[in-house]
Amino acid sequence: MAICLAVVGATGAVGREMLNCLEKRKFPLGEIRALASVNSAGKKLKFANRELTVRETTGAALAGVDVVLMAVDADQSLEFSPLAVKAGAVVIDNSSAYRMDPDCPLVIPEINPQAIGKRPKGIIANPNCSTIIMNVPVWPLHQVNPVERIIVSTYQAASGAGKPAMDELEETTRAWAAGQPVTPKVFPYPLVMNIFSHNSSLGPNGYNGEEMKMTKETQKIFDLPSIRVAATCIRVPVLRAHCESVALEFHNPITPDAARDILSRAPGVKLLDDWQQNRSPQPLDAAGQDNVLVGRIREDISLPGRGLMLWLAGDQLLKGAALNAVQIAELL
Ligand SMILES: NC(=O)c1ccc[n+]([C@@H]2O[C@H](COP(=O)([O-])OP(=O)(O)OC[C@H]3O[C@@H](n4cnc5c(N)ncnc54)[C@H](OP(=O)(O)O)[C@@H]3O)[C@@H](O)[C@H]2O)c1
Repeated sequence: MAICLAVVGATGAVGREMLNCLEKRKFPLGEIRALASVNSAGKKLKFANRELTVRETTGAALAGVDVVLMAVDADQSLEFSPLAVKAGAVVIDNSSAYRMDPDCPLVIPEINPQAIGKRPKGIIANPNCSTIIMNVPVWPLHQVNPVERIIVSTYQAASGAGKPAMDELEETTRAWAAGQPVTPKVFPYPLVMNIFSHNSSLGPNGYNGEEMKMTKETQKIFDLPSIRVAATCIRVPVLRAHCESVALEFHNPITPDAARDILSRAPGVKLLDDWQQNRSPQPLDAAGQDNVLVGRIREDISLPGRGLMLWLAGDQLLKGAALNAVQIAELL
């Protein structure tokens, strides 16, 4: 079956990776449309051996499309997703707009593929990037020994904030190296030679938006409101790929070796846990890779027997966004 598919936000960081994933995975396309804002209309994007001409996102541009991969901000998704559904498409949305909507499944194909079957609004939500990267390895452990509590700290790359943020990190790094003043426009603070708390807004409980997404989205994806998740999300001066330090509290006793064995066979996970060389996952290892890399698997010495610590690196433009969305489209 040849599918007519549109990528909305095709000129952005996630949209471009969606085109790459569709090409690389030989998605059965009949027609592909690259849509973005009016500013990009007429631009050319490479796809396979040809060029796609970008069109403005309008109801007319969405007519006849079977599947829409939405890679725009939440406000724009709230505008365009209903238009696409009205035009007859199933929407897979990368923004936060529909993630906690009870009528929209929130899907990581390795975890809850069955959820895509129930989508009364015609919209399937792609989870937050840090949430996906954390849960791809946590889920297979949870299947063997229930995870009751997760404490996670993230080290998030500029790419998580889109192409303008990646450009800003490169430009400000060059400026810093040349001894020029560093003036951020996308981020609230300089990212070069600095780290700061994630730039999403703070809620009344002192957690920022990104941190609360990791809590609430995990509960929804696992269909387990009782799982306790507390996150600290931090931006670091890395161009691409997020890292996470994850402490897990299990219901039953577990050893690092048992976890290593489970993770060595888990889909979407690759172990990089070389103790002799003190070599564990780095953003440069994860960038451009489909799998979430896992290392530093060790006992949580503050919770002997039932606690484990992991260190993860994952390309949040791929598994944290574009790849996960394309995998959902493949399931459809
Ligand atoms: N970056 C990540 O790692 C990541 C991970 C998970 C989820 N997400 C989510 O994915 C979405 C896209 O993020 P991104 O990082 O790819 O952002 P981005 O690089 O800033 O790209 C934004 C895209 O939206 C398009 N756009 C802006 N205004 C538009 C309009 N009025 N009509 C149609 N298209 C419009 C832009 O087109 P122009 O080029 O024409 O302006 C561009 O293609 C966001 O909701 C983000 O939260 C991102």
